[in-house]
Amino acid sequence: MPSVLVTRRLPSSVLSRLQSVADIDVHRGEGPIPPDELRRRIADKAGLVCFSTDAIDRTVLEAALQLKVIATVAVGYDNIDVVLARSRGAIVSNTPDVLTESVADFTWGLILAITRRLAEGERLVRRGGWKGWAFDLMLGSELRGKQLGLIGIGRIGRAVASRAPAFGMRVAYTARGGDVATPAIDVPGEAMSLDRLLITSDVVSLHVPLTPDTRHLIDKRALARMKRSAFLINTARGPVIDEAALAWALQQHLIAGAALDVYEHEPAVHPDLLSLENVLLVPHLASGTTETRSTMAELAIDNVIEVLAGRPPLTPVF
Ligand code: DGY
Repeated sequence: MPSVLVTRRLPSSVLSRLQSVADIDVHRGEGPIPPDELRRRIADKAGLVCFSTDAIDRTVLEAALQLKVIATVAVGYDNIDVVLARSRGAIVSNTPDVLTESVADFTWGLILAITRRLAEGERLVRRGGWKGWAFDLMLGSELRGKQLGLIGIGRIGRAVASRAPAFGMRVAYTARGGDVATPAIDVPGEAMSLDRLLITSDVVSLHVPLTPDTRHLIDKRALARMKRSAFLINTARGPVIDEAALAWALQQHLIAGAALDVYEHEPAVHPDLLSLENVLLVPHLASGTTETRSTMAELAIDNVIEVLAGRPPLTPVF
């Protein structure tokens, strides 16, 4: 039987399907598999089930002498050298679609939480600082009648856009990298350039993959274009934002606030962000529902099973 390395624990119901077609070697430790161990354990494996926290770079791929399939349990695959993997004969798959709705719901959770100051209010109550109802206590910002600017209008951007009418927001969108997107008939909004979107939006939400074009797409210059009353939301990838520039912009009140699910150097967070009240920080949870995470794992396992059986994966990366 071929062997498959799984770099994190997965539910036994998911692993048992894989066990019927392969010998499996699961990293059972807390946190990601250490890179040295990954290089050692991948040597004789035909399959790899990995996660966004595993760097599948040249050193790992060169150590993998028999690899046929890399199935990441994530939609993003910026952690994998896909071109090198392919040239060494390994197909890469990801888990698109199955997490779209949960990430879109979570994005709206962040939008509501930061504009209505939920985390700040929670902190006040927990530290015993609440002195009772007050007319002007922690006033937030309304969403109704305002503009939601979506940077990236793929599956997740569209799902976020589709929820905007429920909150009375109009939608503006731009393509990945900031090009004006081709107007999409199924998106209720206006296609515009990145600059115009930054200047005119009240909430800016990022839905682009991490690529050389999108790294630090939101830098000092982009932040300076945003309205002082605007909010920035990131459920995409941390390095799309220059985190030091964001901390500076929040300190200077150049924008009203930010809500982040992802960070430039996870799990580290820029130290200046930690002491700011106008930023909401959560630990990479956007696809994190029991239902979605198990569907993601099932899809990744199905991709491995297909390739090991000599068929194409269900969801190759491209
Ligand atoms: C994804 O699917 O890319 C999520 O960020 C989980 O890694």
